[in-house]
Amino acid sequence: MKIQPPLRDLPEWNALETHAAVVRPLHLRELFARDPRRGERFAAEAAGVYLDYSKNRVTEETLRLLVALAEARGLRARIEAMFRGEAVNTTEQRAALHVALRAERGEKIAVDGAEVVGEVHAVLDRMAAFARRVRAGEWTGSTGRPVRRVLNIGIGGSDLGPAMAYRALRHYARRDLQFRFVSNVDGTDFTEAVRDLDPAETLCIVCSKTFTTLETMRNARSARAWVAGALGEDAVARHFVAVSTNAAEVKRFGIDEANMFGFWEWVGGRYSMESAIGLSTMIAIGPERFHELLGGSRAMDRHFRSAPFERNLPVLLGLLAVWYNNFFGAATQAVLPYDQYLERFPAYLQQLAMESNGKGVTHGGARVEIDTCPVYWGEPGTNGQHSFFQLLHQGTRMVPCDFIGFCRSLNPLGDQHDLLMANFFAQTEALAFGKTLEEVRAEGVPERLAPHKVFEGNRPSNTLLLDRLTPAALGALVALYEHSIFTQGVLWDINPFDQWGVELGKVLAGRIAPELEGTARPEHDSSTNALIRRYRERK
Ligand code: F6P
Repeated sequence: MKIQPPLRDLPEWNALETHAAVVRPLHLRELFARDPRRGERFAAEAAGVYLDYSKNRVTEETLRLLVALAEARGLRARIEAMFRGEAVNTTEQRAALHVALRAERGEKIAVDGAEVVGEVHAVLDRMAAFARRVRAGEWTGSTGRPVRRVLNIGIGGSDLGPAMAYRALRHYARRDLQFRFVSNVDGTDFTEAVRDLDPAETLCIVCSKTFTTLETMRNARSARAWVAGALGEDAVARHFVAVSTNAAEVKRFGIDEANMFGFWEWVGGRYSMESAIGLSTMIAIGPERFHELLGGSRAMDRHFRSAPFERNLPVLLGLLAVWYNNFFGAATQAVLPYDQYLERFPAYLQQLAMESNGKGVTHGGARVEIDTCPVYWGEPGTNGQHSFFQLLHQGTRMVPCDFIGFCRSLNPLGDQHDLLMANFFAQTEALAFGKTLEEVRAEGVPERLAPHKVFEGNRPSNTLLLDRLTPAALGALVALYEHSIFTQGVLWDINPFDQWGVELGKVLAGRIAPELEGTARPEHDSSTNALIRRYRERK
């Protein structure tokens, strides 16, 4: 891969810096007043997602300059490289080919000369056959009773994606099947998850790309003891399936290879929810709807690969994120779904974004001299409005927000959806336009209180409006954010597909674990030593 110059050395970057000084003092009130059609013109649509980005602190010139920067960084070629299965994960010399997970049967994508789409569909077909048996009550446990409870054991990408998707698509899920997700090595997670479950009707899906992750293997062993304790060791074969790339470890754990669903090195954990890691999702919603999910992602993939950057949703979201991050000093990005089913979407995005772009070194190994990934966070609306929105409206920090909403509710209840959406629209309006001191005074507010009731406005947001929360809509949203994050990574010249930053803590935990049992003097810094001693005395 070509070594990129530091961003600050690019004329396109310098042009943006000069331009930012002009845009910063502009107020969205002014930008909207200047152009009565701004709301329609600063909008784009793809894969069922309508993006209104007019309430951003940008002009047409800003977008032109951001697109020029993307071109200078070779974004088009990087997108092609990813889609063609090149080793875009440069530190691990691997492809990052989650787009192949949703390629249509018969499409041709090769990794190191080997065609992969056929294998992807072979696994999808096996998953479908299995999911159908479970859904039909034909997959029975060791006592002959059909499996009715599914316990997904995994962590990180092997948990957040499936747990988010299960909640997001609950409307489409079989209600006679129950799903639980165990991730934390804290014994409370497992204990509470199985408290009211009967092992005889429970299927454990152990999800782990590596099948060596400490938390998952510990929870999987607890699950095996729970099943074997109630039903005997022979029951394990009927009550466990595995999703992994590591057949040898799966076998060592005692899960029959026939009950293993594979995926590939070229699928990153946080990009894996549409691989076999989505087995629980498929059991919940059925194979046909799972394919609709893939179809939604595929539509967004095709758009990302082919649409001009000016109308390309993931590119626009990515460029805007860079704009606020690097030219306005915005350290965080809020994601605010106005749909209760998307309650875990922000948590899922946290891993997707921050494990991908939380990097400080370029592909070439140089220190990145500017800020990279903002902190992603959020909660569903309207709940957030009654907790942290105060800061969004009147705090001293700029927090760019993505509002995600749907025109039609899956659970119409009187006028509640209109009320929800009234709040959705109102929040973006209030953030953008605020309320001036003059307006506050005109309301007769006493002078003493007037400054407290001013809303500066000029707080940027994107509005993502979709028709309904369908599996395809979720797939499109997932791919939208995946590719927005990729776009940001390309601009910063960092590798979004490795995660070395999680290693050190794991190694140190491995060293400390035996010290918590023993009596030997812990050999760390004075803080860690004192804490370990106190813990040992009191545990
Ligand atoms: O520790 C981080 C991580 O490697 C994530 O990237 C990954 O999603 C998670 O752990 C789980 O890994 P695995 O699927 O191999 O158990």
